[in-house]
Amino acid sequence: MAHLKDVHGGNVYTVAREIGCDPAELVDFSASINPLGPSPAVWKAIVAARRLISHYPDPSCWELRRVLGQQWGIDPDQIVVGNGSIELINALPHALHLRRLLVLHPTFSEYERAMARTGGTVRLMFARRQEDYAIPVDRLCERLRSKASRDLALDGLVLCNPNSPTGQACSPAAIAELAKVAAQRRLWLVVDEAFADYCPQWSVLPNAVSWPRVIVLRSMTKFYALPGLRVGYAVAARSVARQVQRQLPHWSVNLMGQVAALAALGDRSHVEKSRRFMVRERERFVSALKAIPGCQVFPSLANYVFVELPRGWHARVVTERLRHEGLLIRDCSSVPGSSARSIRLAVRTSQENDRLIESLSKLLLESHG
Ligand SMILES: Cc1ncc(COP(=O)(O)O)c(C=O)c1O
Repeated sequence: MAHLKDVHGGNVYTVAREIGCDPAELVDFSASINPLGPSPAVWKAIVAARRLISHYPDPSCWELRRVLGQQWGIDPDQIVVGNGSIELINALPHALHLRRLLVLHPTFSEYERAMARTGGTVRLMFARRQEDYAIPVDRLCERLRSKASRDLALDGLVLCNPNSPTGQACSPAAIAELAKVAAQRRLWLVVDEAFADYCPQWSVLPNAVSWPRVIVLRSMTKFYALPGLRVGYAVAARSVARQVQRQLPHWSVNLMGQVAALAALGDRSHVEKSRRFMVRERERFVSALKAIPGCQVFPSLANYVFVELPRGWHARVVTERLRHEGLLIRDCSSVPGSSARSIRLAVRTSQENDRLIESLSKLLLESHG
């Protein structure tokens, strides 16, 4: 599991220290955060709540769960709020007694980390490059039904939908089929929808609450642009939600996180504007990337694109060179199932995207890796 040493994107503080600049001067394409920023309602709500910081936050996150319940048409008791969805991911092995988890790569590394921390292991399956990294639901179902898989003694599988870093998603009908097979085998199915706000028609919420062995994770980090406040939530049947809740520390979600999440959820016009912007800008960004000779760009439904650099280049080298220009990108060369030339680029504002395209084209055309 050497790839687990790999860090996540978005570490502007370390990079700023290394290259001697202010974190605000960096343009971060390595963490995929809504380029329009948080809703203006978030700032107002934070200022209005400032006097409450002398009190502990609500440990039950009641108001946030009530509003989320209303939004999804589910019972607030089917929702657990965590300090970012990463806290919930780390709660899952104990909450669901997971010992062996099937993970579809290339994907987010935190599931393997959470399993390793709790003494569990993972089995890997791979989406194929020649299929544009499409999520192979049929192959997954086949694998779960097979005798070989029974012998592996799996107790769950995880699917990021849309997946990161590849950007591919599978349909709610396909997930329903997978949930059926998983239930027959008495396996847990974790559906990580951290980026699903960008493609809501692919989400299995709120139907998932009626599937007894499915848990859906959501993040307020990406689409709502609140990575610094750490808010995510899980949706599952009531008894499962209770099991997850028991694993979390008291007061794990801070006051400003709760306040900001509530304000962000209430601003529907920012939500619509963010989705419209992303569809438009992603298309423009992808066209510009495809115009760089030798770059292969994979289809994406999220706010990032998975790219393979031209032959002769290593993702690490390009990441390093751009970093010295204050441009952070995600080197995916160590993500299992991707190539030494794989990078992930967040879609940012038009101006920032143009700056990246210019630097990347110059770098790839002028010199050779
Ligand atoms: C697929 C996926 N799930 C979950 C997370 C964790 O997000 P957070 O803890 O900020 O909610 C990330 C972060 O990069 C992610 O990419």
